[in-house]
Amino acid sequence: MKTLNVDLGDRSYPIFIGEGLLDQGLMREHIRGKQVMIVSNETVAPLYLERLQASLGDGYQVDTVILPDGEQYKNLDQINTIFDQLLTCRHNRTTTLIALGGGVIGDMTGFAAACYQRGVDFVQVPTTLLSQVDSSVGGKTGVNHPQGKNMIGAFHQPRCVVIDTTVLNTLPERELAAGLAEVIKYGLIYDAEFLSWLEANMDALNSRAPQELIQAIFRSCEVKAEVVAQDEKESGIRALLNLGHTFGHAIEAHQGYGQWLHGEAVGAGTMMATDLSHRLGWIPQADVDRVRMILEAAKLPVIAPDNMSEDDFKNLMAVDKKVIDGQLRLVLLKQLGEAVVTADFPAALLEETLAAGEQLGRSDNA
Ligand code: NAD
Ligand code: GLY
Repeated sequence: MKTLNVDLGDRSYPIFIGEGLLDQGLMREHIRGKQVMIVSNETVAPLYLERLQASLGDGYQVDTVILPDGEQYKNLDQINTIFDQLLTCRHNRTTTLIALGGGVIGDMTGFAAACYQRGVDFVQVPTTLLSQVDSSVGGKTGVNHPQGKNMIGAFHQPRCVVIDTTVLNTLPERELAAGLAEVIKYGLIYDAEFLSWLEANMDALNSRAPQELIQAIFRSCEVKAEVVAQDEKESGIRALLNLGHTFGHAIEAHQGYGQWLHGEAVGAGTMMATDLSHRLGWIPQADVDRVRMILEAAKLPVIAPDNMSEDDFKNLMAVDKKVIDGQLRLVLLKQLGEAVVTADFPAALLEETLAAGEQLGRSDNA
């Protein structure tokens, strides 16, 4: 087992990464009370709930709430379902919520924990690659609003993150690819050497080779932990983790949540951010080709959906959380391995990037 620490003073917490961790009860020493509410969904619970419950052993009141599966259910109604169950089962302020599932369950469980009785503990047990490398670490929690992705939420850090890499064996292939989008992101924004490693090992990752998966998850969590420790509430460097996300969130909201997977939208969005970085003269065409090749090798879309106009993008990007005083800020690449958040790009170049998808013929990926 490998262990990392997210260094946030008295809210610091460990990330455990390894095979078979689901059965080891590692979260027990991070549960402060006697009540536990496991939040999962209809897909993940039949696969892993019993094992998680068994790993907790005796000594806890363990209750469960099983939500419907899908990004379209990442909303306040489901948060209320969690509150209903917590109140019905008489959970008090010492309760711990455990998120067993992907990023949707993790984000919603964390948000419910942030709000219930003004804040209770929670633990992340992420079961998708995307949630293992990104969403379970860093304390961003929340739900979607029809007008914008993740618009309602709170920062609330978990007590620990338990990453059992063997659960990825049951993950559908499309979801594995979606997770790789966030892994590639870390290479592009922060670590050119890791990007090269990913290029060399993409076949192994696609075929879920255990050691390569652990290495990719470890480095991704390491980068995320470093960034979050420096800027927990995203007043600076943390925004870099949103490479491709402003375009991607617009795609997700436009297509209807759940149609394009988050990671797929980030894949196409990363290509758009790369295209704009090139138009600004910051990176050469060879780098654009390299980004396209690694995204394609990870089986991700590189072109936005063909039913989105430039105006659709502009309207949806206008509500992005990085907009300040009406000014859109984007994460762009200075070089491969180094990104910046900037509002300093000519509107005409952004228009060219948005139009480029149409010229290429947008994809109807999902
Ligand atoms: P998801 O939670 O919808 O999971 C994807 C699918 O895989 C679901 O159908 C799920 O039931 C299924 N699944 C999960 N684990 C499985 C397993 N082991 N075997 C078989 N099926 C399994 O999607 P996701 O990609 O994990 O997360 C996407 C969400 O994460 C988005 O809402 C996004 O906004 C959010 N997100 C949050 C952060 C953050 O920092 N909080 C970062 C990135 C993404
Ligand atoms: N996924 C972006 C962040 O956690 O900041």
